[in-house]
Amino acid sequence: MSAKTIIEAMYRGRTLVFGHRGASAYAPMNTIPAFELARKQGADGIELDVHRSKDGHVVVLHDFSVDGTTNGVGDISQMTLAQLKSLDAGAWFHPSFANTHIPTLEEVFLAVGRHLFINIEIKSRKIESDGLEGLVANLIHTYGMKERVIVSSFNPHVLMRFRGLYEGVPLGYLTAPDELFPKPDSFSFEAHHPYQGILDEAHVAKYKTEAPFINTWTVNEPTRAVELAKMGVNGLITDKPDEILRAIGR
Ligand code: G3P
Ligand code: CA
Repeated sequence: MSAKTIIEAMYRGRTLVFGHRGASAYAPMNTIPAFELARKQGADGIELDVHRSKDGHVVVLHDFSVDGTTNGVGDISQMTLAQLKSLDAGAWFHPSFANTHIPTLEEVFLAVGRHLFINIEIKSRKIESDGLEGLVANLIHTYGMKERVIVSSFNPHVLMRFRGLYEGVPLGYLTAPDELFPKPDSFSFEAHHPYQGILDEAHVAKYKTEAPFINTWTVNEPTRAVELAKMGVNGLITDKPDEILRAIGR
């Protein structure tokens, strides 16, 4: 199946709601409790961020270092999975989440992969590869997730390499007002993933000429969610799946 056929089957004409880093308004971002809560709230999917550990595992964390959301210090790329797993990734959010650990992508697939679509954002600031695309492609294949994922990145070089490695997986091109990488000419993708604040009717129309789907982030205001859905945005990525589902009548 082509990537376009797969993504069309995911949406079936509905506006999908993705928990941004899980239901991250209520649980520590990018952890299994946040993903399970998104599922419990009725989200169609989740968005998460991945990096490569020093010893070649795909780990789920937003920042390039562990400093902001764990009790440790250091760059993810310089830490082994065992070092990363020894950290507490929940207590910073609330003491009730103490002893929550950084998950691997594999663990997320096992926990919620049969129930939720997964928008995997590959974090990368460099044009050169650290091998992360290949590791993610292998996991998607091993866990039979090809028809349940969108692979997204702000870095078009990552997405172009990913397409070469594993054709048929829908790709989402992330953009923000301060985006780092310009769009190369020969780059094709199934979904635009713009920052929600810039979207209006004209942007939606332009983006739809470039890719059939638009998933926007981060939509936490119910009235804005309704506006965006009316404009024809296909996916709303939110920290509060419960509120946004209610707002759009789902
Ligand atoms: O994927 C949408 C959004 O998560 C991109 O920005 O910084 O939250 O990863 P950021
Ligand atoms: Ca993200």
